[in-house]
Amino acid sequence: MEKSRTKPLVLMSHAVPEAWLAKLTDRYAVEMGPADTIGIPDSFLQGDNPAVGVITLLMDKVDGQILDKLPYLKVVCNFAAGVDNIDLGACTQRGLPVGNTPGVLTQATADLTMALILAAARRLPQAQEDARAGLWKNWAPAGWLGLELSNSTLGIVGMGRIGQAVARRAASFGMRILYNDSTPLPTAGLEFPASPVNLDTLLRESDIVTLHVPLTPGTRHMMDTETIGKMKPGAILVNVARGPVVDIQALTDALENGHLGGAALDVTEPEPFPPDHPLYRLPNCLIVPHIGSATERTRRKMAEICCENMLAGLEGRRLPFCANPDVYTIRQKQ
Ligand code: GLV
Repeated sequence: MEKSRTKPLVLMSHAVPEAWLAKLTDRYAVEMGPADTIGIPDSFLQGDNPAVGVITLLMDKVDGQILDKLPYLKVVCNFAAGVDNIDLGACTQRGLPVGNTPGVLTQATADLTMALILAAARRLPQAQEDARAGLWKNWAPAGWLGLELSNSTLGIVGMGRIGQAVARRAASFGMRILYNDSTPLPTAGLEFPASPVNLDTLLRESDIVTLHVPLTPGTRHMMDTETIGKMKPGAILVNVARGPVVDIQALTDALENGHLGGAALDVTEPEPFPPDHPLYRLPNCLIVPHIGSATERTRRKMAEICCENMLAGLEGRRLPFCANPDVYTIRQKQ
């Protein structure tokens, strides 16, 4: 990618296909970091880096110390809907708007949630492992029995865009839907039947609990020994939100002691999840590497929104998707 210093410099913390950033490269020199590391590359943080913008990934921590090493930044764009990797306060304090990419990954993430729900309910990882191991001896009437979705209860924790897209899909499978959210949905015109309940009721009554809340101090380890203990015996826990919403040790214990019937995780704590973690050895736990938005269409759209946020920020316009809108009111007051 072009590194000409005749154009202002934008950093992309990790390599993506160059075509995805085409909207930027007309006007900006884009320098990409390596594809397979975590965090803003050290090479970006040395010397007097003239970069005016940075695109970050969800595993890149961005805090005051990092920002101080990039003193000419005008905008930070996260290639994700979630922004828990970014110290928004530190950005706002420095007058930096932070872009994110909500909305475009709703359908892909809801699809993956259904895939995880179906795989866990019908015990696909175990069935595949057994077939590969030669344990498929006959058509076993009582073998690999799973949970049928129709007439089962799905508890959705966090009924934002993704939670609602999951509800729409689950309703078409004939599931009863409970949800917990600080803001219940308006009932008039709701496209799927769903009842708002408190968290205890949801945990007690759901056959499958699926998590769709952002990571905040209030949701960190919201699923711990106590709350997992409130789930129905044999129930399934699905997490496509953020890893630290679930206390991984409490989940491991509940799967090992048989209280839970299964789990399916797109996100873990930590990420990447260490390959020697005991959870990988449990046949009733499916773990995939944070692929909720991983379709060609969605990832391209996320890149496009990053470019649009970046161009707006660098041209002094309001970001189309801004995670710290108070940066604008604070700027006006100054
Ligand atoms: C993915 O997890 C995202 O927040 O975009």
